Amino acid sequence: MQLDPLAVDAGVRLLALATIGSTNSEARRRAQRGERGPLWITAVTQTAGRGRMDRSWISPEGNLYASLLLSDPSSFERAPELAFVAALALRDAVAGEAPALAPQLAFKWPNDLLLAGEKCAGVLIEGDVDANRSAIVVIGIGVNCASHPLATAFPAADLRAHGAETTPLQLFRRLSATMWLRLTQWDRGRGFPAILGDWVAAAGGVGEEITVRNGTGEKHGRFVGLDQSGRLVLELRGGGIEKISAGDVFPFALNGGRAMPSGPG
Ligand code: BTN
Repeated sequence: MQLDPLAVDAGVRLLALATIGSTNSEARRRAQRGERGPLWITAVTQTAGRGRMDRSWISPEGNLYASLLLSDPSSFERAPELAFVAALALRDAVAGEAPALAPQLAFKWPNDLLLAGEKCAGVLIEGDVDANRSAIVVIGIGVNCASHPLATAFPAADLRAHGAETTPLQLFRRLSATMWLRLTQWDRGRGFPAILGDWVAAAGGVGEEITVRNGTGEKHGRFVGLDQSGRLVLELRGGGIEKISAGDVFPFALNGGRAMPSGPG
């Protein structure tokens, strides 16, 4: 694995591992021992890869697994905005490496990357607070380059099956550059309106009927857009507006409008 020179010049470092439980967990472990980044940790395979909502992330060789450790990237309150920064960096990297696929890439709120309507990459952001009350953030990214899991709650895809032969090595190098560029655009939150604008421009499902699932149940309605802090604005079927901070989005039509089964992905 190699960083793009743009990232190297910005002072970013890289730790490229063969096998690890989870690059996110490793980054958080190192942060507890005093590492402050910016540091990318990559792995060829993960034995305990983790996804959002406590799901596992199956991590065979051939796909990309990478986590960026940042300390004090912004005030603690603004750190969740990194979900959109990371999604854009991920999309930029995939589109840069596989330009023919760019028109088929779209976001599923908050930061899944869809390829022709199926999930090809995901982001897991985790945060801790250090002894000085400053935020430690780990941005974990998994990209299905060569294979994708089957039997997922949301359909999955991989880049190779769509004709893109980009390797984890090539994709990571570009991601290290696009992430730095998007972090610079975000500017500790000052550039968040532009980040949200770019995200919405590439979002899937805006204006459509969706189901949002979280730990407490399901909500159905029309995906109106995002509010200024990135919450999903849902026009409820029964009337009224609800702003959603966390959850999984499914097109309502995906399962005939019935509740989705749970599972990885
Ligand atoms: C999702 O549920 O969509 C997020 C998946 C994030 C997976 C990546 S792979 C690298 C990093 N290490 C992990 O254990 N998870 C993230």
